[in-house]
Amino acid sequence: MAKPEELSFADAAALPVAGGTAYDVTHQIELEPGQTMVILGAGGGVGLMAAQIGKVHQFNVIGVASASKQQLIEAIGATFVESGDGAADRVREIAPEGADVLIDLVGGDALRKIAPVAKDPGLIISTADPATAEELGGAGVQRTKEGVAKITEVAEYGLITPNVMERFSLHDVQQAIASVEDGHAAGKVIIEP
Ligand SMILES: NC(=O)c1ccc[n+]([C@@H]2O[C@H](COP(=O)([O-])OP(=O)(O)OC[C@H]3O[C@@H](n4cnc5c(N)ncnc54)[C@H](OP(=O)(O)O)[C@@H]3O)[C@@H](O)[C@H]2O)c1
Repeated sequence: MAKPEELSFADAAALPVAGGTAYDVTHQIELEPGQTMVILGAGGGVGLMAAQIGKVHQFNVIGVASASKQQLIEAIGATFVESGDGAADRVREIAPEGADVLIDLVGGDALRKIAPVAKDPGLIISTADPATAEELGGAGVQRTKEGVAKITEVAEYGLITPNVMERFSLHDVQQAIASVEDGHAAGKVIIEP
């Protein structure tokens, strides 16, 4: 689709995959304002945009991530919970009634450990590990054609930002890929000519 004039090329480049996924994963189960959305892996490319979408809809957004992502997550207006052992208990302290949707962007053991915070296993949706989500009673994200157009519109109106956090030149492509592959990226990593 065409890049809106209001968006920089770097921001536009960050939208089609991470932004479209964030849109789809936050709309697969429709919530009402005030309901609780827990996001595992909230500080990454998909997570920060998913958290922003949740705040636009006035959900109670709880972002689970490592301590290095606390400021980023709180700046969006979401509640930060540190990931790792005991994360499910820390979420329950803040939301004793449980999550109306649990968005998983990490998978594996981290998903298994946080899964009990969902009010019902059917409220788990994963972009990272659909097999584990299904085994637990949830589902993988269903990508839609509309997601990219919708998130682009939302970004164009300044309601969300793609959170471009690192920029590399073409000469430093290896560093850019290494930054993504370490699995702890904050926001999006961009390669520019
Ligand atoms: N199906 C699709 O269409 C689709 C599309 C896009 C992405 N995806 C998948 O969705 C996932 C997220 O994508 P992304 O672009 O947001 O990735 P990303 O930018 O690399 O972010 C992943 C986040 O996961 C966190 N993390 C890693 N290990 C963790 C753990 N044990 N516990 C809690 N958090 C942990 C990291 O944060 P910390 O440093 O805070 O741990 C990181 O910020 C990936 O698996 C990707 O492949 C699927």
